[in-house]
Amino acid sequence: MKKVERKILLNPGPATTTVSVKNAMVVEDICPREEKFGALIEGIKNDLVKVIHGEGEYVAALFAASGTGGLEAAITSAVPKGKKLLVVENGAYGTRMIKLAQTFDIDVVKYQLEYGDYPSLDAIESLLKENDDVSHLAVVHHETTTGMLNPIQEICYLSHKYGVEVIVDCMSSYAGIPINAKKWQAEYIVSSSNNCIQGMAGLAFVIFKVDLLSKLSEQKRSFYFNIYNQYVGFEKTGQLQFTPPVQVCHALRQAIDEYLEEGEEGRWNRYKDNWELLVEGLQDLGLSFLLPYGQQSKILLAIMEPKHPNYNFDAMHDYLYEKGFTIYPGKGAKSATFRLSVLGDLYRKDIEDFLVALKGYLTSIA
Ligand SMILES: Cc1ncc(COP(=O)(O)O)c(C=O)c1O
Repeated sequence: MKKVERKILLNPGPATTTVSVKNAMVVEDICPREEKFGALIEGIKNDLVKVIHGEGEYVAALFAASGTGGLEAAITSAVPKGKKLLVVENGAYGTRMIKLAQTFDIDVVKYQLEYGDYPSLDAIESLLKENDDVSHLAVVHHETTTGMLNPIQEICYLSHKYGVEVIVDCMSSYAGIPINAKKWQAEYIVSSSNNCIQGMAGLAFVIFKVDLLSKLSEQKRSFYFNIYNQYVGFEKTGQLQFTPPVQVCHALRQAIDEYLEEGEEGRWNRYKDNWELLVEGLQDLGLSFLLPYGQQSKILLAIMEPKHPNYNFDAMHDYLYEKGFTIYPGKGAKSATFRLSVLGDLYRKDIEDFLVALKGYLTSIA
C-alpha cells in the first residue's frame, strides 16, 4: 500500500480516516452482483441500524451518493403528493432541504430563523396547528453551519402529536453524537459514509421504520433515489439496484468495525474531549464563538472571525493548510464566522499541534 501523509481535517467531513480504512479499499476486483458482495452490503446495512440502536424496528436503504442523495431519497420517497413538508430552517442545511423539496414541486412550510437561532417548540407547534396538510417535518440534528444541536427528541414528540412524520438530517452527527432511534421515534434518519462514521465519501443511507414500507410503495417521485425500490430490491435479490462504489463499501465496512470497537461512548468522549481542548485553546487565543455553550454540538465550532485588519480567512487557511491542517469557512451564519470541527480520526495531540499552528498565524498578523 502506498504510504500517504496524514492530514488533519478540521472541516466537518469528509473526515480524517484511519490508515486501515484507507487500506480497506485495496481489494480484489469483484462484480457487485456476486453473493459475497451482497453479504457485505447486508452486514453494512444491519450494522448501520445497530449504530443508532434501531434493531427490529428500523432498516436501512443504501445509495451510491453523497449525503444529499440520502436526503433526496427520504424527502421524495416520504412526502405524498398533495401533502406539505415543514422544514426547520436555522442553517444552510435546512435551506438546502427546502430547495431540494421545491425542486420536486413539494410544497414547503418554512420555519425560518436566522442561521444560529435556536428553534422554538411553540413556533413549531403553531405551524403544525395552522397547517393540517403537513405530512412530514424535516430538521437537521447537528446544523453544521453553526454547530447547533437542534432538539430532535422534543420536535419528534410534537410532530407525532399532530400525526406528522419526521425526517432527520444526521449527516454530521450519526456515529459521533449518540443517537437512539427508538427513543426519538423519528421515521427517517439520514446520513453518509464520510463524516463521524469515518469512512470514505460515496454512500448515503436512510434508516427508516420498516412498518412504513407499504406506504412507501406508493411513492414514485424519483427513479434512482427511491427508498422502497432500493430496500425491497435488495431484500429480493441480495443486490443493490445500481452499481455501488465497491471499494467505498469495503472502507465503510472497516469504518463500522472500528466504530463498534471504539464504542458509542468511546467515540463521543474522544470527540468531546478534543472539542473541549479546542474551545479552551481558542479562548486562550482571544477568540469567541457564535453560539452559547448549551446549544453547541460539541463536535464543531463556529468561531467569530477576528476583527484585526490584517486578518484574512483565505490567508489563514493557506498558512494552516501548508502545515497539514484543513480549516473551513463560515456558511452564512448571522455573524461572520469560520468553522472548525473535531469529527474524524483525531486525537489530543492533533488539536494541540493545531492550536500551536493557529497561534503562529495570529501572531504573524498581530
Ligand atoms: C447537516 C448536513 N446536511 C447535508 C449535508 C450535505 O452532504 P453532502 O455534501 O455529502 O451531500 C452536509 C454536508 O456537510 C451536512 O453537514
